[in-house]
Amino acid sequence: MPIETTASVVAEVSDDPELLAVPYTSDLTPAHSVELHLPVPDLLAHYEAKGEAGEVVEVPVARGGGVGRVLLYGVGDGSPRALRRAGAALTRRVKGKDTLTVVTPGGDVAAFAEAALLAAYSYKIGKVGKPAVRTLAFAGADEAQVRRAQVVAQAVALARDLANTPSSVKNPAWLAERAAESGLPVKVWDEERLQAEGFGGILAVGRGSASPPRLIQLSYTPEQPADRHVVLVGKGITFDSGGLSLKPTDNMKTQKTDMAGGATVIAVLGALARLGAPVRVTGLVAAAENMPSGTAQRPSDVIKHYGGRTVEVLNTDAEGRLVLADALAYADTVLDPDAVVDVATLTGAITVALGRNVGAVYSTDDALAKQLVDAGQTADDRLWRMPLIEDYVPALKSPIADLSNVESGSRFGAGSITAALFLREFAGQRPWAHLDIAGVGRSTVDEGTLSKGATGFGVRVLLEWLTRT
Ligand code: BES
Ligand code: MN
Ligand code: ZN
Repeated sequence: MPIETTASVVAEVSDDPELLAVPYTSDLTPAHSVELHLPVPDLLAHYEAKGEAGEVVEVPVARGGGVGRVLLYGVGDGSPRALRRAGAALTRRVKGKDTLTVVTPGGDVAAFAEAALLAAYSYKIGKVGKPAVRTLAFAGADEAQVRRAQVVAQAVALARDLANTPSSVKNPAWLAERAAESGLPVKVWDEERLQAEGFGGILAVGRGSASPPRLIQLSYTPEQPADRHVVLVGKGITFDSGGLSLKPTDNMKTQKTDMAGGATVIAVLGALARLGAPVRVTGLVAAAENMPSGTAQRPSDVIKHYGGRTVEVLNTDAEGRLVLADALAYADTVLDPDAVVDVATLTGAITVALGRNVGAVYSTDDALAKQLVDAGQTADDRLWRMPLIEDYVPALKSPIADLSNVESGSRFGAGSITAALFLREFAGQRPWAHLDIAGVGRSTVDEGTLSKGATGFGVRVLLEWLTRT
């Protein structure tokens, strides 16, 4: 379900709004020039406000014959980070109301509005919860910035929706239908075509499932001729049981979101036109369901990837790299991009390294890595660059194939790094970056801009990166 809240811009605060939010800074001075007829400094002192971002002081005011409310909201130091916190706190405070008129603070209004909209997101099936606030009316705000916030927030919401959808509903073919709804040209490889063209990794992972795999391609071409072509590759495992290397119950129950990377790719591609992105972008989603069955691949099977490389599958639960390898090899040999970025809930190990707030970026290209880290900082999808440590390359040696998909012993460790090294083998010589979003792809808290479940991580950083000129 998309975010029901709409963001609008009004020229000025109307005479008598039912709900009005006005900002103040960390030194408790009003960050606006609206005449309130309220002793704001005294009120803030009375409620012991500190001026922190996220703080909301609610003041009942006489309104016509009844009572309205003014929400004094802290914006801290006014940084984009603080404004995001402030925006999210406001929406959370007024859930279930009709219109909130917001006097906007100075600074990054797009970040502020985006966070306010994201905080309105929820995913429910069959149970009607408290609806989000219907309209956020930003007084005196820049139209273009608020519109951008709305487009970005809806893209994040789409990625969350796709990843939150139960796996009884979303098989690979379903994902291909959702991609087609983007309105972009879409090409879909079914199992026959995957077979005919040699996508052995995607086929091997999908073999155990009653729902056959798909490779999905979406194409965005800007109106002005572009001089750059970027390929985005998403991991689209619609459920990861581990396959015959079966996951334990507790680890398996979160694995409907194992196509979060693919969801990010679909959502990003769908938003590019609305944001007027100046680069050509091709999205690839390698979609399969990883299930154990009589037809499933076995630990010790050897498979052949797109392009002919062979891999010994020692653990069927390291399936993400197998489907991505095909897509990366295809991008390199057929699509001729200037840069390739893959997004994947790839390893539990990255959660150990970076936790749940910061995603990993690996890259063979310093400039590309820096662009992504910078864009992530701006967009609030924070990334930390991880190293591709050459000493660990031998971990993936196989005695009988070109590579194995996991380390057979435990001499090297570093599960997220060795996974990235595996992918690098298939990316060719082009600038390539890999985002491991296993830690940040889902949230265990309902707080700020996050809701429990899928986060849509990657949408904001990639949109920021692709729309910078
Ligand atoms: N989908 C998982 C990674 C994952 C774990 C995502 C937890 C989100 C939350 C991936 O396919 C996987 O199973 N990775 C294995 C790799 C191992 C077998 C080398 C892992 O991390 O344990
Ligand atoms: Mn797995
Ligand atoms: Zn997986």
